[in-house]
Parts: sequence; structure tokens; C-alpha cells
Amino acid sequence: MSKPVDFCRKRYGHLRKLMQEQELDLVYLLGGGQRLKRIADTTSGAALIVPLDSEPRLFCYSVDINSTREESWVPVEEIKTRVEANKQITDHCNAHLREGSRVGVQSEGFSHTTYGFMKENLRGELVDVAETLVPEVFYGLYPEEARLQRKVSGLADLACTAAREAMKPGATEYEIAAEAEYAMRREGAELTSFATIVSTGPRSAYSHGWPTSRRLSDGEFMLVDLGPMIDGYAADETRTYILGKDPGKQRMLEAVDRAVAAVTEAVRPGARCSDLDAISRRVLADHGFPDYPHSLGHPLSGFAVPNLSKTSDHVLREGMLFTVEPGIYAPGYGGVRLEENVVVTGDGCEQLTLGPRLP
Ligand code: GLY
Ligand code: MN
Ligand code: MN
Repeated sequence: MSKPVDFCRKRYGHLRKLMQEQELDLVYLLGGGQRLKRIADTTSGAALIVPLDSEPRLFCYSVDINSTREESWVPVEEIKTRVEANKQITDHCNAHLREGSRVGVQSEGFSHTTYGFMKENLRGELVDVAETLVPEVFYGLYPEEARLQRKVSGLADLACTAAREAMKPGATEYEIAAEAEYAMRREGAELTSFATIVSTGPRSAYSHGWPTSRRLSDGEFMLVDLGPMIDGYAADETRTYILGKDPGKQRMLEAVDRAVAAVTEAVRPGARCSDLDAISRRVLADHGFPDYPHSLGHPLSGFAVPNLSKTSDHVLREGMLFTVEPGIYAPGYGGVRLEENVVVTGDGCEQLTLGPRLP
């Protein structure tokens, strides 16, 4: 059975093929976040340098050197001093470049100082690959890789269930969050990709309401949003529960459920992300609810695309992995968000988070 590193190597092969097609002599990918995990099998490298004429090299600060060497299949070079890091990496790149070489970078990710240093000292021309190479290499899951994402999205289901089971009058948001986190840690979550959200009562109307000492009361909403990770594959699931019954709140929940269902039914290769975003808002409007102040969804697990928003020009293709997370937020009263993880298949989508959305 394939392991995460097998997909990293495959992605690296894909990157090299694209470099040839796009006539890039070297690519300089910055570390940070989960992106490098999907190609170098570690999150702790500072920069991945891929010359077309030679093997890749991962530059890493001393603090993480041992773990990075153990984790990554890519040869690792220690950055000697922070002050000299730009020079050390640029010198390495220059050994693989000549006048007229093309160097692919994601210019937006670099600090002003680093970008300026490279522009001055790197042999060859800097080419921004943020909209070309990067979304092609990091477009989504290979078919056999979906298994790894299923596992972590299943862990998010389990943690949401633990939160629901911990709901009772008088329970604090801290306590509920602790139960959810305990459940996912015990089953193998290595990290969480963001701090667990538990927000109750009127606080559920905050898009991101971190847990507090507030105590839950009968008839209130409880919104739970959590993101376990395994091998750098990240889930991101939201459920909103009602403690007991409240018909008005139930109608809000049902409207968001319908919005999610309308979107997942429309997901398929070729679908436009801005159209999917519009579908979710239309369903909520048809139910008499206002627009929500965030985008419909985002990619997961370090992938670069797709963004599902009003202005996105992304078009879906098989393997793309993202969230679908519309909401209704009524300040002072409460809010509902439901969030699923989906992957695009040949003719539709597979939903990876499978916990019930309605009571
Ligand atoms: N937990 C933040 C989000 O759903 O995007
Ligand atoms: Mn979320
Ligand atoms: Mn999300």
C-alpha cells in the first residue's frame, strides 16, 4: 500500500516534467505551512531547491535539522547562520544556473529582503510561478492518495461526535473542546491545522469563536470546527448542534444543510468555483436568510487550489480537495456553519466527512 512519501516522489516527478514544459531551469519553493509536506514529506524545511540538472536539496535551520533529515527523502543541507541564509541558498542555486536561466519562484511568499537579494545575486531571470506551475503541481490528491485523506476526515467526524456527546447544560466551551481534542488525539491526530473552535449561544455567530468559559444552556446552538492532521493531511469539519430543541434554530440548520447539499450535488470536473459559491448563497436567500461574510471553501492538506469564492476563476478537476462551508450568522442570536471535505471524482465528488449534519 502506498505511503505518503510515495505520493511525494510522484509529485516531484510531476514537478520536473512541468519544469521541462515550462522551460524552468530551477524552482525555489519556500517552506512554511503544509505545502512542502506534499512533496518533501516534512514541514520543517525553509526552502526546497529543485534544479533541473541535478537532485533536489532541502535547506533547513539547525534547530530542526535532525528531525528533517529523518523525515524527508530529499537530501538536507543545514543553514549555517540566519544572516547568511540568503547567500548560502543563492550560491547553491547559482551552481546550477547560467546567464539566461529561468528560475521559478512564488514571489509573493518571499520577504522583501530575500526577494531583493535574489534579484540582485541570482544568475538568470526570476519567473513567478504562483499561477502556473504551483497550482499544477499542488492541484490535489492522486486517486490512490484519497485513502489518506479519508482517514483524517473520518477522524474529524469522530471528534465532532465526541463534542456532541459532551453537550449538556452547564458544560463550558473549554470542556467541550477538550473532549473533542482528546477523542482525535487518542485516535492518532498528530497536530491540528488550526485551534479548535467551540462557540455556544450568541457566540456561535462569530465565524471563528475560540472556546471560553461560557456555559451551554438549553435551546442554544453549539458550533464546533476542528482540523485534525495525520501525515500532513488535514481535515476541516464544522458541525452546529442545538442543545434540546428550538424550531427557529432548526430552520437555520436545515437551510445551511440544503446549501451544502446543493453544492455537493453540483461538484464535478469542469464546474466553476464562483458558480458553486453562488449556488450556496442562492439557497440561503431562497430560505430567507442573509449572505455570509466568507468564501464557500478552500483547499486542504497543503494544496494550492481551488478557492471557492465569489471572485474565484478556478475550475474543478478530478482530485481537487476542498471544503464546502456555508453559514448563517445572526449577531447577538447565534450562527450555523456546516463544513464538509470533498474530493472531485471523474463524474462528481466523494464526500469525505460523513457525520450527520442534522439531528
Ligand atoms: N476553521 C477555519 C475554516 O473553516 O476555514
Ligand atoms: Mn473549519
Ligand atoms: Mn474551513
